[in-house]
Amino acid sequence: MPEIKINTASGNSRIILGEHLPDLLEYIPCENVVIVTDENIYKHYSSQFPPFPVIRIGTGEKIKNLDTVRDVYNQLITENADRSTFILGIGGGVVCDIAGFVASTFLRGLSFGYVATSLLSQVDASLGGKNGVNFNGFKNLIGIIRQPAFVLCDPNMLDTLSYREYLSGFAEIVKYAVIRDKEMFQQIEDNIDKIKKRDKDLILSLITDSINIKASIVEKDEGEQGLRRILNYGHTFGHAIEKVHDLKHGEAISIGMVMANRFCVGRGIVDQAEEHRVTNLLEKLDLYEGVVLDRNGIWEAMLLDKKKYRDKLLFVAIDQIGNGYVDEVSLEELHLFLRGVDKD
Ligand code: GLY
Repeated sequence: MPEIKINTASGNSRIILGEHLPDLLEYIPCENVVIVTDENIYKHYSSQFPPFPVIRIGTGEKIKNLDTVRDVYNQLITENADRSTFILGIGGGVVCDIAGFVASTFLRGLSFGYVATSLLSQVDASLGGKNGVNFNGFKNLIGIIRQPAFVLCDPNMLDTLSYREYLSGFAEIVKYAVIRDKEMFQQIEDNIDKIKKRDKDLILSLITDSINIKASIVEKDEGEQGLRRILNYGHTFGHAIEKVHDLKHGEAISIGMVMANRFCVGRGIVDQAEEHRVTNLLEKLDLYEGVVLDRNGIWEAMLLDKKKYRDKLLFVAIDQIGNGYVDEVSLEELHLFLRGVDKD
């Protein structure tokens, strides 16, 4: 199977593409395994799980907290987990975060791996070693960076995602193209119909490109001291929008990308034509529609952003499609911009 490697100071990861859940056993390094999954994945796929004890958690961002972590620790104790136990997370972003965080902290750290079941987790959440939970309204405030031994991306599991869930994951693919690869952006523009029809070859190729981009960034800056910050493109506004509005992650990030680009146009950093190109693409992918934004709520949520320090925030800007970079922006400037936004 094709593989991409992510080699970092904290460990090495194998990202296995095109492999299927029933063939998982060959990648698991030992027989002492505990699976962590969510109720939804369990319902659809447990018949294909390898024969190990299963810990089930709930679904959705709301359960990504220390209470869930405590429950999983307790169940690991019940399962007599020891330092040789391998934790296998099977699920989307929330499962990967919880399983990775628990594995990284229980008994000072167990080995772990993932089967990434959503497009979002295949191209982003499962990769690069960030594991963590939300705390007191702050997103991913408590966490650790530690690489999974492997991430298996089964293309068949994308078939059972709802159309909205699938496209929401696709927003992260658009993100990679906008910050790093203008040819990939063009390829997405030229293939909207195929993307919407989930053409398997095209999607696999775009997933591969996305993972390669993320791998090369994480290998250079695992601890997010500089370059890795560009992966937060669209997320400053997007995370706040996700918190306040009833939207999927990728839908909120798409609005966040449009707002980030408009902010850059306003600062004279990027041409309006580039902003229009990204906005049009997101519209065609049903990722950007008119939403009346709760500007006050969004502003309050933005003030809880981890990337804020004193009166400034590290903001990901683009100067053209294919080139994202980090800029320091004053909160006042962002607030003024936000107050000027009427709609979406
Ligand atoms: N999801 C952004 C990162 O892994 O850095």
